Amino acid sequence: MTDSRATSPAAPASTFGTDLHLDLNGPGLRAGLTDALREAVRTGRLAPGTRLPSSRSLAGDLGIARNTVTEAYAELVAEGWLTAQQGSGTKVARRTEPRTAAPAAARTATAPGPPQYGLLPGPPDLAEFPRAKWLAAARRALTAAPHDAFGIGDALGRVELRTALADYLARARGVYAEPDRVVLCSGFRHGLMLMAHTLRQRRVRTVAVESYGLDVHRDVLTGAGLRIPALPVDEHGARTGDLTRLRGVGAVLLTPAHQFPTGVALRSDRRAAAVDWARSTGGWILEDDYDGEFRYDRQPVGALQGLDPERVVYFGTASKALAPGLRLAWMVVPGKLVPGIVAAKGRAEWMSSALEQLTLAEFIASGAYDRQVRSMRLRYRRRRDQLVAALARNAPGVRVSGMAGGLQAVVELPPGTERSVVRAAARQGLTVSGMAEFRYEEAGSAGRSAVRDALVVNYAAPSDSAWAGTLEALCRVMP
Ligand SMILES: Cc1ncc(COP(=O)(O)O)c(C=O)c1O
Repeated sequence: MTDSRATSPAAPASTFGTDLHLDLNGPGLRAGLTDALREAVRTGRLAPGTRLPSSRSLAGDLGIARNTVTEAYAELVAEGWLTAQQGSGTKVARRTEPRTAAPAAARTATAPGPPQYGLLPGPPDLAEFPRAKWLAAARRALTAAPHDAFGIGDALGRVELRTALADYLARARGVYAEPDRVVLCSGFRHGLMLMAHTLRQRRVRTVAVESYGLDVHRDVLTGAGLRIPALPVDEHGARTGDLTRLRGVGAVLLTPAHQFPTGVALRSDRRAAAVDWARSTGGWILEDDYDGEFRYDRQPVGALQGLDPERVVYFGTASKALAPGLRLAWMVVPGKLVPGIVAAKGRAEWMSSALEQLTLAEFIASGAYDRQVRSMRLRYRRRRDQLVAALARNAPGVRVSGMAGGLQAVVELPPGTERSVVRAAARQGLTVSGMAEFRYEEAGSAGRSAVRDALVVNYAAPSDSAWAGTLEALCRVMP
């Protein structure tokens, strides 16, 4: 036995074979190497069947003599941890007994691990992305694509998708849409950015927003140099009647079908008030129809845009019905604003790939989009009903609202408990947002009247396999 370090500085480090990290501690090199390898196999860090580096390669990497490695391997073969076969090298034995506790399991006992359950607003159930149907649509779209699809193309986006969307939006959402008014963009946020630039070019300086919403969207507007006074939100949606009282407003951003995050639909007189304001002042309504396809109990709420296509800019997205990772969204723009949007788009050249656009066009035209929405609607409705039933059983004091459509519901909590419930959830490995996260602080006390302490629960987000555990964790932290 020769426990000696290879001393020659010229000995080259091995540049081939498997890379293997080992901490060599202990009394001697051979014993240290044997222990380190045994430990790596025992804890599962080296999986059964893994081929180990050749003795020459490992000796080179560790800077030790080759026969030290050969002897350590031989000892572990004798103990049954490794197998050695002529021609196939040394491998980790395929043992049948279960591994002893892996370090990861030991860690969770002492420190909080990453969150296990997620109910944060935003994504749909990503596990349900229709991979096979999307792939089939992509194959058909690519096969049929003209050569010009591989060029940069039209600033509005591929005409195939604009045409498919114009048909779909007219049919499913009551939008007045012609393909040459449909502008494709990579997400609502991108569309809003384009619109903010266009409005600035048209000398708009102020865009009213709802007193509850996403700060990333407010940031897009302020980032473009716009002032953003707030409209209070109550149980009938944004108080659009207040638009006439606010000074110098050139546009208003609304979520009429399903206010984000309170979940209420804008009452019909308030829809009419918004349109009256736009007509009488020359203002614009920016309609964020982010989850309008998902409705459950109530009568369908069509798009506000249908009331006045010359004053309403309609925004839709594939982020809820399919996946936010696609970064595919669309605007239907009043004729007057199209040239401004095209100019803005020329400056901020981030469009979705033409191939993704063609795939979505094919997906819609073949009826797969409708089928996906219908199937997800059933699934989310079932989730929502399970959420309501579980809370009624386990926390009869809380009220659930804002759930007639969309992917999120509002779980109203006793006054003063929101922050402690969000913190308790985090301790249970559950990420969930409190309503306060979405309040626009500048809205002041007027903006606070409608919604009390609450959680905004995106019941669509967990996969089916995570749903039961997520619901249990949520019920556990209810006051
Ligand atoms: C209120 C609201 N608007 C729009 C969107 C869609 O955003 P995007 O198309 O940028 O993914 C979302 C997504 O979560 C949303 O919550």
